[in-house]
Amino acid sequence: MAVDLLLGLQWGDEGKGKIVDVLTSKYDIIARFQGGPNAGHTLEFDGIKHVLRTIPSGIFHEKSTNIIGNGVVIDPVVFVKELEGLEQFKIDYKSKLIISRKAHVILPTHRLLDAASEASKGKAKIGSTLKGIGPTYMDKTGRNGIRIGDLELSDWKEKYRALANKHEAMISFYNVDVQYDLADLEAEFFAAVETLKELTFIDSEEYIYQAHKSGKSILAEGAQGSLLDIDFGTYPFVTSSNTTAAGACTGLGVAPNKIGDVYGIFKAYTTRVGSGPFPTELFDKVGEDMARIGHEFGAVTGRARRCGWLDLVALRYACQVNGVTKLMMMKGDVLSGFKTLKIATSYKYKGEEITHLPYNIEPENVTPVYTEFSGWKEDLTKMTEASQLPKELNDYIDFLEKELEIPIEVVSVGPDRKQTIFK
Ligand code: IMP
Repeated sequence: MAVDLLLGLQWGDEGKGKIVDVLTSKYDIIARFQGGPNAGHTLEFDGIKHVLRTIPSGIFHEKSTNIIGNGVVIDPVVFVKELEGLEQFKIDYKSKLIISRKAHVILPTHRLLDAASEASKGKAKIGSTLKGIGPTYMDKTGRNGIRIGDLELSDWKEKYRALANKHEAMISFYNVDVQYDLADLEAEFFAAVETLKELTFIDSEEYIYQAHKSGKSILAEGAQGSLLDIDFGTYPFVTSSNTTAAGACTGLGVAPNKIGDVYGIFKAYTTRVGSGPFPTELFDKVGEDMARIGHEFGAVTGRARRCGWLDLVALRYACQVNGVTKLMMMKGDVLSGFKTLKIATSYKYKGEEITHLPYNIEPENVTPVYTEFSGWKEDLTKMTEASQLPKELNDYIDFLEKELEIPIEVVSVGPDRKQTIFK
């Protein structure tokens, strides 16, 4: 069987957690391939809402094995809190959660460095979640990082000390006010590492290779969104990993010819949290209504998300870069009651009208050109069948399918597992 991928096509927060949870029963293995605790994958079922950060969204299903791949960065402190959160659900995570030895460890000083780096940028700040993601990936590519497998070695604390000392020197170099008590942070960190070590560490690329060979079905779960990709996103306002499909190959050790379906998840409108260009952003009551009705507040940081119309130029780009084969549209229910809906179908850019995403998408460079659609009034949240969807929503979906040349197979009409319509 092929390895299927599930990815966000916008700036994150598309609803990947819910869809992985919905799809998990079809797969033996769910594997996260990049990112870290900057992610917040929200799942809702049986009246319970749960946010996962580093742990794959298949953890609530009885039979699935959950792998944290080599491309992920893990903060032991956050991770242990996440495990504690699972205890109330009586999840036997020790038997179904395994971690790549090649995943990198977020140290307390990585978090501090993130804060110092952001503070030094002033108005140009990225709007990072401050979870230490950027500094940890910098140490990875700089070949200084500590990996999960290192924690099994007797001398890992010496390596830790050398790196933490270097980080402290870097923090003082930034010359900004970052208050911390490293002794406290380290006590918490070392205790969390001991708990983490109770889990099984594996050579995940070998594990996945053998699982695939023996016919197991595997779903690779992406985090953040395609427009936050370090190469293809709105650089420098991006995260520090490859969030696009290629990241699943490098973040799990899966060969490209083993990839099957690429599920692309997008919201029926657009949101972004943190800084950076957002051509279809709304600054009026319509945007405020989207934020309020859609509960657009970050699952990790609680920050208000910026809202705007669906951007087909950006969506088309994300579908191309990822090779999306099936689309899933989230939060259509939020748009119920909007009289007119808009989709940006092209940009005005340097005196021309273009349909591809250019190098510069700051407001001074692009102006979106919109196509308007009639809205629908019906409440979608109780609908269970495609035949119940209002005509106006079907027109919206048909337009997107025709433009993108990819079928929209799932329409999500609410946060619960059950509020999912397969077309
Ligand atoms: P970092 O990855 O925490 O450094 O954040 C870099 C940028 O990506 C910031 O604009 C964040 O708001 C954004 N970001 C990171 N993770 C997520 C996510 O899971 N959802 C949405 N935005 C994210």
